[in-house]
Amino acid sequence: MARSKDTTTAIDFKLAEDILRRNDRGGYCVPTDGLYPFQWSWDSAITALGWMEFDERRAWQEAETMFAGQWDNGMVPHILFHKDAESYFPGPDVWGSDKKIPSSAISQPPVWATAIRIMYEQASDRTLATEKVLELLPKLVAYHQWWYRERDPGKTGLVCSYHPWESGMDNSPAWDQALAAVPEVDWSYQRRDLGHVDADQRPHKPEYDRYLYLVDFYKRHGFDSQYIYDHCPYKVVDIGIVSILHRASDDLLELCRIAGQDQGVSDLTESTQRTRSAVDRLWSDERQCFLNHNLISGAPIDEVTTATVLPLFGNLANKEQAAAIAELIDSWLDATKVGLSSTHPSSPRYESQRYWRGPVWLHINWMISLGAESYGYPELARRLRNTTRDCVTASGFWEYFDADTSAGCGGDDFTWTAAVALYWLTD
Ligand code: GLC
Repeated sequence: MARSKDTTTAIDFKLAEDILRRNDRGGYCVPTDGLYPFQWSWDSAITALGWMEFDERRAWQEAETMFAGQWDNGMVPHILFHKDAESYFPGPDVWGSDKKIPSSAISQPPVWATAIRIMYEQASDRTLATEKVLELLPKLVAYHQWWYRERDPGKTGLVCSYHPWESGMDNSPAWDQALAAVPEVDWSYQRRDLGHVDADQRPHKPEYDRYLYLVDFYKRHGFDSQYIYDHCPYKVVDIGIVSILHRASDDLLELCRIAGQDQGVSDLTESTQRTRSAVDRLWSDERQCFLNHNLISGAPIDEVTTATVLPLFGNLANKEQAAAIAELIDSWLDATKVGLSSTHPSSPRYESQRYWRGPVWLHINWMISLGAESYGYPELARRLRNTTRDCVTASGFWEYFDADTSAGCGGDDFTWTAAVALYWLTD
């Protein structure tokens, strides 16, 4: 206990606020200066929670700016390219979408409705919060309907993902095999990430060639949903997305109820019911957690990552499954200096500092901790919070943290790290 008290005082919350202000580009924050010069969707949702602690109006603006880039079909892109920037590749020309705000053509884990519900419940300015929720609700509904309609046209209950970047866990070893089946691009290009971050913390070239093949594939086929669903060479059920979507749909339905706008959303209720009945198919008795599935090969993906325990956050595990997952996380935390490592350290593909193959991300810990708490594991929830705090007190506000040393990695002065500290690590 003494330890967590000491470390609390060591977090520089003033600096965290400053990071948000410095990364503000007018209505949205960039994740970090240089490496990521645009607005990323799930970063932005987490960032809004950070703003909420000291500037509520600005917090709501984060959402408004993101939803201004929503596509007509309801999709919220994973990146909005509000301004040109030379420091990032692939930019809007490579993605090739012709929207009013240039954007990527995939989405990201849909944590928005969950963030908006939290913001609504916490807001001191009730008039502003009500006004903003009423504006955002139809957009959120359209976004969730898009997920279920376009990413699960067969109504299996499990939406699919077309790109490792859509998972937000871009370089996770869970995607290796599925990605290996994707052709490599045959044109040359200049990566920009390696100018900002050490190559040993970033993906390798063959992976990058395949990421780009997919980006080009959507463009070549005119972003035609049905064609992409039928022919995309990469198609997985990402249990992280399924879980985050499920929790967010429950939060969205609750917001609709509070706002008296719950007529016309019965399809969302039905979609969540379908997910609840389908999710058991992803459970692995051997691993004692849920697994991602490769829809092209039809096989489960045997890799324990932070995504595979997110059903705790998604409220998708039954009591026995939750107990097994809680036990798994506890021993997993024992195995690294700080946790929860993005890939289980017993995996041969574990690398403590390479992008999503081992390092710790703060917002993931927040989600899993919230799940642990709601399933009745307050000790585990606290443990996750303390280890998160250890990352920040050891190294500051980095993009992510080496699980074996707690050293900061990736980009520095990182927005979502500062936001999670402000929202979750203050007492
Ligand atoms: C990387 C991460 C992704 C994040 C983005 C911006 O691509 O993998 O989750 O949204 O950076 O921070």
